[in-house]
Amino acid sequence: MLGGTEYVAEACEETLQALGHQTNLHLQPDLGQISSNNQTWLICTSTHGAGDFPDNIQKFISDLRSNDQDLSSVKTLVLGIGDRSYDTFCLAAIETETLLKSKGCNQISATKTLDMSQDIDPEELAKQWISDLQDLL
Ligand SMILES: Cc1cc2nc3c(=O)[nH]c(=O)nc-3n(C[C@H](O)[C@H](O)[C@H](O)COP(=O)(O)O)c2cc1C
Repeated sequence: MLGGTEYVAEACEETLQALGHQTNLHLQPDLGQISSNNQTWLICTSTHGAGDFPDNIQKFISDLRSNDQDLSSVKTLVLGIGDRSYDTFCLAAIETETLLKSKGCNQISATKTLDMSQDIDPEELAKQWISDLQDLL
């Protein structure tokens, strides 16, 4: 919504490409346009409102909720961006993880959360997180 998550997603993409992976960055994700055939989905989402999904991912989430396709070949990672001063810290990321699991996706690693009120360099933290997971990707 304010651009912070986009920078973090771009930092993840840079690291993934440096590790030799092919990437597609979806800033307005459209479930119908995203391959689910042996893909890894890294979902980076902030939380807005009172624990709400940011505008750009709302349609993807509602389409995913109503989707009954088999997503068991999809590997997933979720990166949440939020602010720990909210009771609903990174709730959108937590709900995304739950939703992906309910659709049969295979979560590669625990959801990573970044606290924008404390973490001074979120892009660097995200890059380090991806690098640490490289054996699982
Ligand atoms: C109006 C507003 C509501 C927010 N609500 C939450 C929240 O419920 N939980 C949370 O963890 N962070 C919350 N945040 C913090 C944002 O997630 C944080 O500022 C983040 O960096 C925004 O990233 P974005 O610009 O990429 O959307 C809120 C921020 C704003 C401005």
